[in-house]
Formats: sequence, structure tokens, C-alpha cells
Amino acid sequence: MENTIEKIYSEALSEIDAASDRKTMEALSTRYLGRKGFVTQYLKGISSLPEAERPLAGKRSNEVKKELEARIAERLEAIEAAAEAADPGIDVTLPGRTEPTGSLHPLTRIMTEMCEIFARLGFSVVEGPEVEYDYYNFEALNIPKHHPARAMQDTFYISPETVLRTHTSSTQPRVMEKTQPPVRIIAPGKVYRCDSDLTHTPMFHQVEGLYVDEKVSFGDLKGVLTSFIHQMFDPGISLRFRPSYFPFTEPSAEVDIKCVACRGKGCRICSHTGWLEILGSGMVHPAVLENAGYDTSKVSGFAFGMGVERITMLKYGVDDIRKYFENDIRFLRQF
Ligand code: PHE
Repeated sequence: MENTIEKIYSEALSEIDAASDRKTMEALSTRYLGRKGFVTQYLKGISSLPEAERPLAGKRSNEVKKELEARIAERLEAIEAAAEAADPGIDVTLPGRTEPTGSLHPLTRIMTEMCEIFARLGFSVVEGPEVEYDYYNFEALNIPKHHPARAMQDTFYISPETVLRTHTSSTQPRVMEKTQPPVRIIAPGKVYRCDSDLTHTPMFHQVEGLYVDEKVSFGDLKGVLTSFIHQMFDPGISLRFRPSYFPFTEPSAEVDIKCVACRGKGCRICSHTGWLEILGSGMVHPAVLENAGYDTSKVSGFAFGMGVERITMLKYGVDDIRKYFENDIRFLRQF
């Protein structure tokens, strides 16, 4: 009997020492120490030994059991440590994962660029409200009620006296009302018109400009806008001032640039004219200056307004205005 437990013990030891992975070790633990394991079975058989042998056999078997348990635990730890050393699970030489960074919306970028160019020309940035009084959006700008220009603008009315501003020109009377000349501002922001198709969205962006001072002339207007367009597009680009009409400027002019796609040959983008309209402008109408309380015998001014979506489309070659607002990450990532 004693021989048997010693035999189990030495066999177990050599098997444990030979085992080199966790699975084998667990199998050995069951084989020797499990419910039906050799050591357990041996312990159960002690009661059938001659009485004199039982105490010693019991003592020894319990020792063997403890020793084997300790040995298995020790070996398991060693196996685990060796595996860990061979494959730490992480490759510390891999480059770290970087957080994806967002970027500015193309319209924000162009609007900022426009403001920067005008800032260098001496203009400061102001902002006006998007929900605007009829007075500032129309009345003060020489567009009385029932004026046909109101119908042109597809206005969203909030109430009979308040509208979603249809143009940033509404900031002109707001600024003039509070400031004495010289006034030299630009006003970027959102505007709204009830219109929606390939080239129109109900909300879009404009940048307005206003310069009022003594002796401001149409030559100043041409100089400032030419300088702006050369900085915004390219110093060699051709442009032209074309007579136009706005109730709040007189004379009025729209500015066209040579088509950036066909360079003037005529294509789909410029409707085969070779030119692209990019802004409206003119000398501030005396009625508008008078509404602000300015003395028209002393001061004069010019104003201009342009669409940010349009300029961005021309700069980046975007062909559908709706892309700006669909928030398709594949579109936005290109900027
Ligand atoms: N407000 C005009 C528009 O929305 C543009 C403009 C601004 C024209 C200032 C002249 C002077 O079309």
C-alpha cells in the first residue's frame, strides 16, 4: 500500500514536470487529485487497510496530495510566465492609434478667408440677427411695402413685421443707425429664401460689405472689389462690372469673373457666356443714407453682397449646392 502511494507520487511528479502547457496541467490535476483521481481513490481505500497501517498511510497520502497541489500550482505559474514572455499580447512598437480630427466645413473656411481678405483692406466684422424686422430687411433699404423687389425675394415671414432676413443687407441700416461715418464693415451670415433646387437652398450664406465716408466713389468700389477677387481667386483673373439694379444702391453693378471652368470659352457652368456672376454691389442709395440720418451732402458710400456657397462652388469645383448641407462625410473629408 505504501509503495502504491509513493509510486503514484513519483509518477505524478515526473508527469507534472514534463507538462508544458496549461491544458495538460489541468488534465493531470484531474487525473491525480480529481474526484476519481489516483490520490483521492487511494485515500478512499485506506479504510480497508489493516488498522495499524491506516494512520501512517493516511498521513502520507495527505502530504502527497498537498505536495502535488503545490507543485501543480507552481508549474502552472511558470508556464503562464513563459507564455507571457513569449507573447506579451501587445506590440509596444506599433504606432499609436490617433484620434480622428474634424475639419472646418468648406463654407466656414471660405467665409473665414473672405473675412480675412477684407480685414486686411480695413473692414471690421459685424453680425446681425437672422430673425429680422421688416424695417431693416426692406423698409430702411428703400424697399417699401408692395415694392416689386419684395416679390423677387421669396420671403419667409415670421409675423407681419418680422422675417427671416433675405439678405445680409439688413445689417447696413443697423450699423449706420448706431455709428457715424467713417463706417467700414463686412457682415457674414445666414440668409433665407423660400427657394429650393439644384442651385438654391432655403438657407444660404452671404457676406455683406459697407463703406461710408467722405468722398467715397465708384472708383473705390471697383478698387476694393477687384483687390478682393484677385486675392480670393487668382491675381490674373479677369472681371467685369455689369450694370444692374438694386433698390438700395444707385448706380448698381453686378460683378462677373471669367469662368473658372472654361476660362471664358463658354461651358455648362457659365451657361455658355464665359462669365460667372459672383456679387451684387453699388453706391449706397441716398434714401438709405438719409434713413440712417446721414448728411448726403457730406458722405457717400458703396455696398456689396455675395453668396458664400457660390464662391465656394467656384473655388472648389462643387457642382451641387445641396452637397454642403447633406453632411456626407466623404464629401466633407475632401476639404
Ligand atoms: N442684397 C443683395 C442680394 O442679396 C446684394 C447686394 C448687397 C447688392 C449690397 C448691392 C449692395 O442680392
